Amino acid sequence: MAYETITTEQRGSVTLITINRPDALNALNTTVERELGEALAAFDADDSQGCAVLTGSGDKAFAAGADIKEMVDKPSAEFFQEDFFSGWNEMTAKTRKPWIAAVNGFALGGGCEVAMMADFIIASENAKFGQPEIKLGVAPGMGGSQRLTRAVGKSKAMDLCLTGRMMDAEEAERAGLVARVVPHDQLMDEAMKAAEVIASMAPMAVKVNKELVDAAYETTLSQGMVHERRLFQILTATEDKKEGMKAFVEKRPPEWKGR
Ligand code: CAA
Repeated sequence: MAYETITTEQRGSVTLITINRPDALNALNTTVERELGEALAAFDADDSQGCAVLTGSGDKAFAAGADIKEMVDKPSAEFFQEDFFSGWNEMTAKTRKPWIAAVNGFALGGGCEVAMMADFIIASENAKFGQPEIKLGVAPGMGGSQRLTRAVGKSKAMDLCLTGRMMDAEEAERAGLVARVVPHDQLMDEAMKAAEVIASMAPMAVKVNKELVDAAYETTLSQGMVHERRLFQILTATEDKKEGMKAFVEKRPPEWKGR
């Protein structure tokens, strides 16, 4: 499928999606929002694909935020009537397979928020994260105040949202926002390798693991523990559970069936 603002490529069982507006530091306009939603839906529906990687084109930015030029003259009533930014929530909630954000530079405002929508973040040592919306007289609108606070805690989230400062990859890893920091020239290799590992796992187990970690954000510990046990018990009915455990005992690699 031909897109205007993103590119997609299947590499074996991994879908690589690249936000492709390098002249605007990959700023996220409504076309990016729509096309990324379509690309994630296509990835999710394709049984040959097990994991996706999202990155930004060029060497400088993952995404430098929502497109300020698209918003500068937009009347407030339109933001409200269109439920502006709601498509981001929908695509995140609908995608059941995992996707990794490979953050190659600035991840600011909406860029930081999209990285946090991913299941985890692998960052180049050049990456910079921040929620600078306050400097524009606004606040995060794609989940930054909520996901950042859950990821790094109140104090650092307040610091970032109220001062609009950037944090580098090392600070982001220390704070728990980022899963791994890697040398800049190894970012895509590391992200693709991680995605290939995930794509090589039993597909139903992958979806269940993602659902359970996500549920930890939304539920109490006791509800989450019940949810976890039930899904664990359901997975024991799959052919892949039998195959996975048998393969371990027989000291051979498993052959997943996806059921
Ligand atoms: N929207 C639209 N265009 C953007 C953009 C954005 N968020 N960020 C950068 N650009 C454009 C610039 O306007 C510039 O285009 P022109 O050459 O046509 O002028 C081009 O990208 C290169 O940017 P700079 O010349 O500014 O590059 P720099 O290296 O000097 O600075 C930067 C880099 C620090 C990231 C700077 O571009 C910047 O501060 N960008 C804005 C960051 C920001 O405020 N993001 C939050 C947006 S609001 C938001 O995201 C709301 C939300 O919660 C969803």
